[in-house]
Amino acid sequence: MYHAPVLLHASIEMLGIQADGIYADVTFGGGGHARAILEGLNSNGKLFAFDQDPDAEKNAQAPEFANNPSFTFIASNFRLLKRQLRSEGIEAGSVAGILADLGVSSFQLDTAERGFSYRFEGPLDMRMNNQDGPTAADVLNTYSAEALQNILSAYGELRNARSFAQACVELRQTNPFKHTEDLVALCTKLFIGDRMRYMSQVFQALRMEVNEEIGALKDFLSDALEMLAPGGRLVVLTYHSIEDRMVKNFMKTGNIQGQPEKDFYGNITRPFDLVLKKAGEATEAEVKGNSRARSARLRVAQKTKEKNGQ
Ligand SMILES: C[S@@+](CC[C@H](N)C(=O)[O-])C[C@H]1O[C@@H](n2cnc3c(N)ncnc32)[C@H](O)[C@@H]1O
Repeated sequence: MYHAPVLLHASIEMLGIQADGIYADVTFGGGGHARAILEGLNSNGKLFAFDQDPDAEKNAQAPEFANNPSFTFIASNFRLLKRQLRSEGIEAGSVAGILADLGVSSFQLDTAERGFSYRFEGPLDMRMNNQDGPTAADVLNTYSAEALQNILSAYGELRNARSFAQACVELRQTNPFKHTEDLVALCTKLFIGDRMRYMSQVFQALRMEVNEEIGALKDFLSDALEMLAPGGRLVVLTYHSIEDRMVKNFMKTGNIQGQPEKDFYGNITRPFDLVLKKAGEATEAEVKGNSRARSARLRVAQKTKEKNGQ
């Protein structure tokens, strides 16, 4: 299976699908969530599905999607949500629901040539779009020790980010990073605590840097607010504490820092009403069947019906 959708039932229920509404699933992957959205639409409803990964695009060519007149696939980074939807003729303020299931799919993780996982030997690539921009090897071979330390500490929460970054810079002078094994070997030398957990933190930090995941999420959130109709739902599944905090802050205040914003009269403006006050989590039963669900946090908000939401 390409990817087992996480919190499928809860996230689709939270979208509150209207059969003739306009929806966006910005992380199509294997199409698990998209399929469930399409089941709720009639022929007037529309689903725009985004993914930047060419393998995900192939999934969208399956007849159940490609032959469904309500379905449109957009091969793009979701940070361009507004631009892409507008080029499809969708106006700001008209989308009934937007779903984002962040991070990587199981298929991406399990495909050795993509270099996302310490479990497989492959090139240190990690680019979700598989084509543009620096690879994970480029990051390790060219960033300064300080820049590497920042990434490993912020995205990977490594306790020894400084010494790991220093070790990278020294090692690459004689042995530039090329393969996942090169990074695994360094992790094996320097890990603190559980080795597997340490490796997954290092790999995750690099993946987030290579794909500019934090910047993309920030752009996406502000586009989502603009594109949603008053009363429209934003449903986001995160798998990393930084992302979860960004989404939580944005839903509360309209900015990722969580700074309350005020209107001309000094009244605090709230772009969204929170549908879930606390993040939703997977049940033990789901986690048992799909370990990826363990770190999932479901955040849901509804764009306010007053004008100040936009
Ligand atoms: C967790 S998977 C989504 C799985 C999907 N919900 C399903 O049911 O199969 C995340 C997907 O989002 C895509 N993705 C992640 N960041 C993206 C971005 N900034 N723009 C477009 N696609 C992105 C990845 O390529 C991956 O296919």
